[in-house]
Parts: sequence; C-alpha cells; structure tokens
Amino acid sequence: MNKSNNVPDPSAPLPTGKAKAAAVRSMFDVIAPRYDLVNRIMTFRLDVRWRRLAVRRLGLPAGSQVLDLACGTGDLCRDLQAAGHCAVGMDLSRGMLDAARTDVPLVHADALRLPAAANTIDGVTCGFALRNFTSLEPFFAELARVLRPGGRIVLLDVDQPRNAVLRIGHSIYFGRVVPFVGGLLSNKNAYRYLPRSVAYLPPEPQLLAAIEAAGFSEVTKHSCSGGIAQLLTATRT
Ligand SMILES: C[S@@+](CC[C@H](N)C(=O)[O-])C[C@H]1O[C@@H](n2cnc3c(N)ncnc32)[C@H](O)[C@@H]1O
Repeated sequence: MNKSNNVPDPSAPLPTGKAKAAAVRSMFDVIAPRYDLVNRIMTFRLDVRWRRLAVRRLGLPAGSQVLDLACGTGDLCRDLQAAGHCAVGMDLSRGMLDAARTDVPLVHADALRLPAAANTIDGVTCGFALRNFTSLEPFFAELARVLRPGGRIVLLDVDQPRNAVLRIGHSIYFGRVVPFVGGLLSNKNAYRYLPRSVAYLPPEPQLLAAIEAAGFSEVTKHSCSGGIAQLLTATRT
C-alpha cells in the first residue's frame, strides 16, 4: 500500500480479502472529487450512454423500487430517477457518497451485506464495481435474496474487445493512456490500479454461470461500443 493515501501500490500483487476491501474504499475516497471528470474524459462520455442503456435494459415499469449498488457519485441513481424509478444508492466509500450529485436517498452500505429485507426489491443496477468486490458469489447471492421473483439486475462493467485489432488498441489505451491522464487529473496509482483490476473479473462463461447459479434466469451479456464495456442482465427466478 502507498502510505500517503492507501491507494493500492501498483508494484505489489493485487490485494485480496480484507486488504482489498480496505484498499478499494480508500482509493475511491481519494479519487472521489474528480471521479466524474476523469470518467467523462477517459470514455469520451460513452459512460453516460452506457448507464442510460443499463437503465433501459432493466426493463422495469416506472415506479419500481431499484437499488443502485456501489452507486459512487450517483450517475446511475440520476438516470433511474429520470426513468421514474424509486431509486436508492448504496456505496462503501464515504468520499464517493459525499461527492454524489443526486436527490435520491444514499446509504453507506456494503453491497455484499445489503440493509434490505428479502424479496422486497424490483431491480438492482451496479456500474463498474464487480471487480472491486472481494468476491462475486456472495454479491450475486445477496442480489437473489433481496429481489422479488421476476426482479431484474443490470450489471455494467468494463470489458475487452473480441476483435484482435480493437483489443490491441484498447489495451494500449486502457493500460497506458488511462493511467497517464488519470495521473495528471487525479491519482496516478489509482488509475494504474484500474486496468490491473480487470484481472479480478472471471472469464465470461464463469461469470454468467455464477449469476445463474445464484438463482437467476435469462442471463444475458450485451457488448457495448465494440466490446469495451458489457451489460449483464438477468431475471430473478
Ligand atoms: C468504479 S466506481 C463506480 C461508481 C458508479 N457505480 C459509476 O457507475 O460510476 C466503483 C464503486 O464501487 C464502490 N464499492 C466497492 N466495493 C463496494 C462494496 N463492497 N459495497 C459497496 N460499494 C462498493 C466504490 O466505493 C466505488 O464507489
């Protein structure tokens, strides 16, 4: 760990377990003030489009009770509210919650232990957070617990293009340009950790199988923008 700000040390192996949870929380506390700015610049505002698509792919009627988990600065919360949903945002980083720009209620909570009763929620969104959790199975189990039968999930995250040429370009952009620009605008170590953290994501078949095994059907992956982002959707059985 970098002593000055607890952001993961890029020269150390990727943290796991409690060390990972602490590092992730500290890192987001540190980068919170410029998180939105860096996102918009790095993705050329494609992130805005992906989140709106995520809300459409929830496929729930207006007025649905939706949790946006790992809500960060509240981008998805705003989109859910604009779509007429009753949204609540939850995040583990107080820095991100403090920097949030949304009117929806925000709760400081761990997505792996939700403060919500079983079978009470219509939908869950979660943007760019899967690789930040210490483990995915407990997260999917928690989603299955709180959602009513027929409830929907949409998980938005980064991905790697299948096309070989795009993949090379993407790896240069994500592995070199993003850490450089992120370092200039925000925190160098945090934006060096970001591309490395993709290694936490299991291969696609394993990821989809884990969602299904937790109690979901219609598990689908939709690739966005040439495969640099992915939307995973599923319905609670
Ligand atoms: C890359 S940000 C994504 C923020 C937002 N969802 C978005 O679309 O921009 C990842 C977020 O996950 C949060 N996070 C990481 N682990 C978490 C956990 N176990 N429970 C809740 N939030 C968590 C971080 O604090 C951070 O705000």
